[in-house]
Amino acid sequence: MRSSARYTRTAVWLHWLLAAALLGQIAFGFLLDEIAPRATPARSGVVNLHKSFGIVLGLLIAARLGWRISHAPPPWPATMREVERRAARSVHVALYVCMAVMPLSGYVASNFSRFGITFFGIAWPPWGPPLPSVYAFFHGVHVTTAWIFCALIAGHVLAALKHAVVDRDGVFARMLN
Ligand code: HEM
Ligand code: HEM
Repeated sequence: MRSSARYTRTAVWLHWLLAAALLGQIAFGFLLDEIAPRATPARSGVVNLHKSFGIVLGLLIAARLGWRISHAPPPWPATMREVERRAARSVHVALYVCMAVMPLSGYVASNFSRFGITFFGIAWPPWGPPLPSVYAFFHGVHVTTAWIFCALIAGHVLAALKHAVVDRDGVFARMLN
């Protein structure tokens, strides 16, 4: 695993590109019923757009995970206490787990529904049978993880802002450039 004193440019780009895209996708998911209410003609197109964006995000997340596995993050400043390091490490791992579970659970759920996935206009026939109980399980995982993800992101942003405004220890700046 390669290691350096700061995040690589690729890590910084992937972080901010995914942060913006994930926040958009989470909002899109929660607003699906407002944008296209159930049983309206627009519904299927809008849900498939969510699925299509989600699959592209899944590929970007896989690239980010691959990059992270082969590149160690920079060491934290000596001023950071052990309890803070442990909290940061745990939240980062949990964020990666949520990033992986969100697209996977959506993808698997959709394959146990008769609708399957239409990826930007191209129909992908489902590889699973239409089983409402299996769909409901993975959909439940999708929704529950979305809420956990939101809570983790809120904590992560507050911690990042504390580093930027209170600690001023360079931890925020090293994810900027
Ligand atoms: C990082 C990627 C993704 C994020 C952050 C995300 C987020 C969300 C959120 C927040 C919801 C609303 C949950 C609720 O009902 O309260 C949702 C619903 C849903 N998502 Fe995703 N999603 C992602 C990827 C995917 C993928 C890849 C698929 C399928 C290929 C998918 C399929 C669905 C489906 C079927 C629903 C439920 C729609 C309905 O209720 O009719 N999602 N998603
Ligand atoms: C969906 C939103 C976001 C996700 C999923 C996310 C995820 C992550 C992850 C997994 C890391 C650890 C990188 C690693 O070492 O492997 C990280 C680092 C970081 N993030 Fe985020 N992030 C998000 C949004 C934000 C936002 C909005 C901010 C700023 C307000 C921010 C600031 C930072 C900073 C400063 C670091 C570096 C921490 C360090 O050096 O240890 N992130 N982020």
